[in-house]
Amino acid sequence: MKSNQPASSYRADSSIVIHQVQPGDAPALYDFYDALSPSSKRTFAPFGRNPTLDQYEQVVSANCNGRGDKYDLVAVQGKRIVGWGFVWDLDKQEPFFGLGVSDEYHDQGWGGRLMDNVLAAMHQRNLKRLYLTVVTDNARARHLYSQRGFVYIGEFTGSDGLPYYRMVADLDGRSSSGSV
Ligand SMILES: CC(C)(COP(=O)(O)OP(=O)(O)OC[C@H]1O[C@@H](n2cnc3c(N)ncnc32)[C@H](O)[C@@H]1OP(=O)(O)O)[C@@H](O)C(=O)NCCC(=O)NCCS
Repeated sequence: MKSNQPASSYRADSSIVIHQVQPGDAPALYDFYDALSPSSKRTFAPFGRNPTLDQYEQVVSANCNGRGDKYDLVAVQGKRIVGWGFVWDLDKQEPFFGLGVSDEYHDQGWGGRLMDNVLAAMHQRNLKRLYLTVVTDNARARHLYSQRGFVYIGEFTGSDGLPYYRMVADLDGRSSSGSV
């Protein structure tokens, strides 16, 4: 697993900053997702194909109300969100990870940085296991996940009709299964 740099606010260059979702971020999160290409929306749809502003407001409020069942980081350039990484269902048996980056920023390390920061925060919370699902042909995302210790535990067909792998990372550092 790659090493993580815990940070509530991480600056990799002069213009993009990573921080936890904060009050007022919902419209920018909505705009971020809305602007993704059809290809990115195909493989990343945490609220399905047509999310509402209210759903993003709920993400913001879950991060700010102290309940702690959601942890969301955003990469922000000026007022624009260009990346989003999160863990949801922190209050349940199987918390899961999600990640998306604006198309024009792909392959510049932002997905990895977001992921490393989310994982660092989960280590600090002593989370033992983190789950995710990934469309089987999403080679870039699978590379990122395998690199950071996620291993294959199954596959299924999603409600969108696409084939998915299910993966888990043991945050204690003990792997449990084979890799994809
Ligand atoms: C998947 C996603 C989040 C990755 O973010 P990103 O910022 O592009 O990723 P990074 O630049 O940090 O890292 C990409 C890595 O994949 C590698 N990669 C790129 N294309 C690849 C391919 N076709 N096959 C294998 N690896 C690939 C890169 O070399 C890099 O690896 P490295 O760090 O070892 O050099 C981003 O591409 C995205 O938002 N995609 C659309 C939404 C999505 O699919 N989200 C994931 C849902 S499970």
